[in-house]
Amino acid sequence: MENSNNNIYPVFDKMLGRADKEALLGQRGLMIWFTGLSGSGKSTVAIALERELQRRGILCRLLDGDNIRTGINNNLGFSEADRMENIRRIAEVAKLFVDTGIVTIAAFISPLRQMRRMAADIIGHDDFMEVYVSTPIEECERRDVKGLYARARRGEIKDFTGVSAPFEAPETPALTLDTSRLPLQQSVKEVLQLILPKINKEK
Ligand code: ADX
Repeated sequence: MENSNNNIYPVFDKMLGRADKEALLGQRGLMIWFTGLSGSGKSTVAIALERELQRRGILCRLLDGDNIRTGINNNLGFSEADRMENIRRIAEVAKLFVDTGIVTIAAFISPLRQMRRMAADIIGHDDFMEVYVSTPIEECERRDVKGLYARARRGEIKDFTGVSAPFEAPETPALTLDTSRLPLQQSVKEVLQLILPKINKEK
């Protein structure tokens, strides 16, 4: 009987690499990592950016705080250790997308420098663009979209970033956006100017 293994050649066993995926898509994979306080506008800018990239025919994937925390990270809270683990898992997942040639957008508070450094270490520093959404806490608290600042001030939520837990501003972000001063479309435009040369889709 013919051994079907005879028909298998090692070359077919090899997984396709990032370059193959990027050639298929006609774009380069990249990580855009938004960091900033709750209510600073990370998700809003990230969502608008995703729509604009889609409109331009660029495949992207948005990973967002509240969504991830109801799914893969639903067993994590807001202690420093849990936030580290939150960011570690997100970075590992994001790396899979970037390695598939996808423009990957993350919107997480990621409050400490060591957390963002870990994410960049996992994903690769060359592919990692840190965007600091620097909207002042007074404005985030004024917006208080989810009512969480008010609850944190009343002591009902502990370890709340900016109130009872630290936020370390990035020292050398690729871009800083203060959404209390910039209209949404201007923020999107600034991110696009930064990333389009790196994505380099041939059309
Ligand atoms: S991170 O610090 O681990 O990066 P992440 O971005 O995933 O945080 O989640 C932040 C969101 O969780 C906030 O926008 C807010 O809606 C909610 N949240 C609930 N508790 C807290 C808390 N103690 N500190 C900050 N955000 C909290």
